[in-house]
Amino acid sequence: MVDELARLERLVQGWFANMQHESGALSSYEMAAFRGLLGSEGYDFLGEGGSRVVVALSPDLVAKIDTMIDWAGVNRTEADRWREAERVGYGEVFNPVLFITESDMAWMDSRILVTPRAQVVFEHEVPRGRKREYASALKSAIEFFEQCYPGSDDVEDIHYPFNWGIVDGQVRCIDYGS
Ligand SMILES: Nc1ncnc2c1ncn2[C@@H]1O[C@H](COP(=O)(O)OP(=O)(O)O)[C@@H](O)[C@H]1O
Ligand SMILES: [Mg+2]
Repeated sequence: MVDELARLERLVQGWFANMQHESGALSSYEMAAFRGLLGSEGYDFLGEGGSRVVVALSPDLVAKIDTMIDWAGVNRTEADRWREAERVGYGEVFNPVLFITESDMAWMDSRILVTPRAQVVFEHEVPRGRKREYASALKSAIEFFEQCYPGSDDVEDIHYPFNWGIVDGQVRCIDYGS
């Protein structure tokens, strides 16, 4: 996994270092080119959101790559929140952040986050048989935000089922960095 991550980090760093513009998000054209590069290097594409592209790093792990050009903040926020959730006893409802890349270059720091691969089954609706578990996990996640980040608008995002998945048979929030 360490070798695989180092290879991905070099690839991503090389690609971002060659960007023509220096800030903001990738255009849809650049995003398609980036996905193409990852695919041609053998990475299975698993999804993308407003700020990250997600690829498989191994059968059990994924890499979330921030696609903002000058600053990769979402991964850092997610990692900080993960540490806080664990500290205050809400770790079981969030997908753990296992590793985050670090760099002296601000634009590369926290560019890649490693987390367990989830079954993404909540895109459209909460599956039958998971509704109670989902409701209870969501309640805990909201409590966590209210306790540790009172007034933060980001609590809105975790209400969406598509930010949830199943990891090790448990319902967990898989996107809590935005
Ligand atoms: N742990 C995971 N395992 C498998 N797929 C994932 C995982 N996390 C995210 N994804 C997929 O990648 C997409 C983008 O990831 P997400 O964390 O939502 O990024 P963003 O912060 O840009 O919204 C998700 O909508 C989902 O389809
Ligand atoms: Mg998302």
